[in-house]
Amino acid sequence: MSSKPSSGDQHRDYLDDRHAKSQDTVYTTSNGVPMPHPYETQRMGENGPLLLQDFHLIDLISHFDRERIPERVVHAKGSGAHGVYRTTEGLEDLCMADMFKKGKECPISVRFSTVGGESGSHDCARDPRGFSIKFRTDEGNWDLVANNTPVFFLRDPAKFPLFIHTQKRDPSTHLTGADDSTMFWDYLSQNPESIHQVMILMGDRGIPDGYRHMHGYLGHTVKIANKDGDWKYAQFHMISQQGTKFFTQEEAATKSPDYSQKDLYEAIEKGDFPKWSLEVQTMTAKEAEDLWEEKKINVFDLTHIWPHKDFPLRKIGEFELNENAENYFAEIEQIAFNPAHMVPGIEPSADPVFQSRLFSYPDAHRHRIGANYQQLPVNTPKVNYRMGNFQRDGNMAFYNQGKRPNYLSSIEPMHFRERSVNLDKLHGHFTGNAVTFLSEIRPEDFNAPRALWEKVFDDGAKERFIKNVSGHMSTCRKEEIIKREIAIFREVSEDLASRLEKATGIKGYDGISELQFNGTHNGMAKDKSKRTAN
Ligand code: HEM
Repeated sequence: MSSKPSSGDQHRDYLDDRHAKSQDTVYTTSNGVPMPHPYETQRMGENGPLLLQDFHLIDLISHFDRERIPERVVHAKGSGAHGVYRTTEGLEDLCMADMFKKGKECPISVRFSTVGGESGSHDCARDPRGFSIKFRTDEGNWDLVANNTPVFFLRDPAKFPLFIHTQKRDPSTHLTGADDSTMFWDYLSQNPESIHQVMILMGDRGIPDGYRHMHGYLGHTVKIANKDGDWKYAQFHMISQQGTKFFTQEEAATKSPDYSQKDLYEAIEKGDFPKWSLEVQTMTAKEAEDLWEEKKINVFDLTHIWPHKDFPLRKIGEFELNENAENYFAEIEQIAFNPAHMVPGIEPSADPVFQSRLFSYPDAHRHRIGANYQQLPVNTPKVNYRMGNFQRDGNMAFYNQGKRPNYLSSIEPMHFRERSVNLDKLHGHFTGNAVTFLSEIRPEDFNAPRALWEKVFDDGAKERFIKNVSGHMSTCRKEEIIKREIAIFREVSEDLASRLEKATGIKGYDGISELQFNGTHNGMAKDKSKRTAN
């Protein structure tokens, strides 16, 4: 019995335990009793039944029985690592977050993921990628929970669970989209606001080559505020210093299921630490109103991007990933990213999808990892003050705040943060005309997709796009769905639609002006009776 954990209290000394080697560890039962060997099952005589008193065996097997926790309902397949963030340029003029003072550093953990697949699914799926960062700042944790594409499939949060279901297994056939794409295209053909994301997903940027070669985008508009309470809208971007790289459909098919995990892990192991810059676009409330008036771009609608020409990127800092997890389950599976984890100076906007996410993530964490998930070592803030609040008990409450009062006590008062800003100013926000009916399709929805087709995609990219879409549609069981989706593509470009008609052998509808969508209002319908959803 050689070694002891340094503090004598290993439950509180996770970091010490995390790095401990097997050679320095004594084999024990879960209650700490040293055992001679794992294969010491107690039984009645040589061929007799086992004994109920054998805690060692029951301890082992019953814990094994409980090893699985629910996987994330989306973004279940992922990889992660730890690193450090540094503010190289500073943002103090616009944002009072302490971490944005020039020269500030903080430890971070990052998790990348695919979206639709299960936890054992393929890393090289044609799917958006998740890109989440937990910044352990001196003022608590800030989680930036983003994707690798600047836009999303929807602007009405009520559509999210239904859309995600179309990428999961069919309730009856139990098949995924790999064998049957009917549900996927059925949804998209009824919800044309998805078209911008569909163009990106089905194009050359649809399958990133691992996680190191992709950018990240919050996509949502949030608010940043300075010490005077002056605020601006902001969009955060993570720009890969490795550059971007993507696979074609054919290349992706030759890769191993854990390609991205292996790529990230091995790069970090050999000291080739991946790096990103953290950058921001900002906009005043007045500029947001003008953007709506002039271009019909609503800053609370994440199917649209902010034009970079008018709202250029400003660099704030950099981060690198320089440490692999010692224990994947403890440090990556149990990590809980939450868009509602914001530090003073960063605020939500009225973006309805973002607002819903503020509720959804902590709700998922309570289900997935328990009421006290914030006490799991990987989730605990690294602040230099003692944290206290009035949350007590519940399952696995191993940081239960000792004998401190569990109510607002006048006998033992605690410290409160000073109010340093003018809250009235901070909470005033632009609601102007940009808050529109969420489920209405407008001509502006097709502008950015059209620019992609006409100005960004070259001939090769167009050919690959048509091949990707028609290949994916080949497992769609209903011709009517394809006809509708072609009509949506026709609103993007006649050229695109006719090429797709040739590739699928199916003649699509002329455009969406004659279509009615289930649940989505068609603001482009000629016939007024078709405008409302059926
Ligand atoms: C994961 C809900 C939209 C990025 C998740 C999880 C839920 C969820 C429940 C699993 C959380 C967990 O178990 O830890 C929603 C809802 C949305 C939405 C309800 C819309 C209404 C978005 C958008 C983005 C995004 C627009 C990107 C801009 C992510 C990422 C993860 C995630 C990156 C994985 C986090 C991790 O690595 O642990 N989402 N989501 N989601 N979501 Fe969303």
